Amino acid sequence: MNIVQYSRAMTTDRTLITGASSGIGEAFARVLAARGDDLVLVARSAGKLEALAAELTARHNVRVDVVPADLSLPDATDGIVAELTARGIAIGTLVNNAGFGNGEFATLDAARQRDEVFVNVVAPVVLTRALLPSMIERGRGAIVNVGSTASFQPVPYMATYGATKAFVLSFSEALAEEVRAHGVRVVALCPGQTETAFFTGMDEARSPGRARTSEQVVATALRALERGRVVAIDGFANYVLANASRFSPRWLVARIAARMFRPTPSR
Ligand SMILES: NC(=O)c1ccc[n+]([C@@H]2O[C@H](COP(=O)([O-])OP(=O)(O)OC[C@H]3O[C@@H](n4cnc5c(N)ncnc54)[C@H](OP(=O)(O)O)[C@@H]3O)[C@@H](O)[C@H]2O)c1
Repeated sequence: MNIVQYSRAMTTDRTLITGASSGIGEAFARVLAARGDDLVLVARSAGKLEALAAELTARHNVRVDVVPADLSLPDATDGIVAELTARGIAIGTLVNNAGFGNGEFATLDAARQRDEVFVNVVAPVVLTRALLPSMIERGRGAIVNVGSTASFQPVPYMATYGATKAFVLSFSEALAEEVRAHGVRVVALCPGQTETAFFTGMDEARSPGRARTSEQVVATALRALERGRVVAIDGFANYVLANASRFSPRWLVARIAARMFRPTPSR
């Protein structure tokens, strides 16, 4: 099945994208709407989601629902599922994309790190658990979990973030195998540095190398779905780096990463 056929097969079911108000999530929404997918957009910024929904509906004649939610709240996913049920929406493709990263562990606000675990880990697990059974029942479906090249290595000065993304990779690889026979595909999408708001407010020196675009990242995910690949590292350089770190001692990888991510003293 090529990408277009894959998209058409899903048209009776919606694609739910978390973190659709900017960056990679917004790019998913734009690319999938252009292919004719009906969407459900989730993030906190209701206004941005409404504007995007109106634009995509006008431009591509697709159905787009908006479900504003703060995924750092423990009952947020229950609220989303209740909305889907009330609106009679079935989800055929789930893109667990919302996420954010943070700084030095000992000084970073504890509540913010808790939120990071909720958004990056708890929300994808609970949403997946809620939406997967109906995919299995229908014998088709797809789940894209957005990890990172940080999924493959410890990341000093972004310790919690790196750990959440390692979780995403392990969870996705295991789940892919569990549901393979049921016609449901699972992809761990692992971008490296990508041109989004992600690094806003962070020291640019923390993100070396040339950034990829959100559209390139989305194309990598769709290729992986088409080819039945479980782990999709975006970009050749990121692929080489992620695999190099797999074959190096973990302490050495951590030390090199610490040099890259250590905050520069403020001037
Ligand atoms: N950019 C990179 O270099 C890079 C590299 C590797 C992996 N990633 C991963 O890619 C994913 C998307 O990030 P991005 O680069 O596109 O960054 P972004 O432009 O900052 O987008 C993050 C998205 O997550 C949503 N979000 C954040 N906190 C949320 C919350 N509490 N509840 C609901 N939604 C929330 C934001 O929406 P609201 O603010 O409207 O809620 C926004 O739509 C993340 O999982 C990130 O870890 C990014």
